[in-house]
Amino acid sequence: MRTPFIAGNWKMHKTLAEARELVAGIRNGLTNASGIDVLICPPVQLLFPIAKAVLGTKIMLGAQNAHEATHGAFTGEVSVPMLKDAGCTHVIIGHSERRLLFGERNDRLARKVRAVTGAGLTAVYCVGETLAEREAGKTQEVVRPQVDEVLGRDVQSERLVVAYEPVWAIGTGRTATPQQAQEVHGFIRSRLGSIYGPTGAANIRVLYGGSVKPDNAAGLLGQPDIDGALVGGACLVAADFLAIISAASEAFSRQ
Ligand code: PGA
Repeated sequence: MRTPFIAGNWKMHKTLAEARELVAGIRNGLTNASGIDVLICPPVQLLFPIAKAVLGTKIMLGAQNAHEATHGAFTGEVSVPMLKDAGCTHVIIGHSERRLLFGERNDRLARKVRAVTGAGLTAVYCVGETLAEREAGKTQEVVRPQVDEVLGRDVQSERLVVAYEPVWAIGTGRTATPQQAQEVHGFIRSRLGSIYGPTGAANIRVLYGGSVKPDNAAGLLGQPDIDGALVGGACLVAADFLAIISAASEAFSRQ
């Protein structure tokens, strides 16, 4: 049984005061989230104070990116040991904005994933195709190397969460249908099976991301291979994030 997982990717949003308010809202509303893993990934300047704000709650803390080296002359970068020091247990790696806007490719992401898992943290590793790739019928052709070239048996499956995020659905309000998402999730799980074997693959959470909102969460989370959500825009409003967590709770209690 995979524990459902709802993660919020705050991207480059929130000052400290705004972040404290958002976390207080999430904390106070987390009453019916039993059996759900909840993660928030604020921007890096908020990690230390927000680690304090979530202390003693079930909210876990993650970062949105990390450098693959432990330390060194890399101006503007932050390493995994530093994120661990700040209280992070998770790091998002390979988000499409990192791939498309900052040129991160599979070979680099393979090193980043290993830096995260090797330090004992969990990588939330993102994959997904662009609209042009989907329309050209190349979704599997794109997702396959994103999985195969980055993951491997040397990446501990216990330290891995995968997120399928079709680029055309991110921040656009255009969500994959539950069937479209399930089809790719099933494909990802079969690729994971070729690396980790069927039992290993069955234990890895595969999240969906891309315009997940309170009103579409239940349909997506009701699919057999969708184990949770990576939420962008809707995680910036406590009531919306909580509504998605509740939808997950209901969807998974029915399964
Ligand atoms: P969105 O972002 O929910 O705003 O589409 C999701 C993500 O980029 O992780």
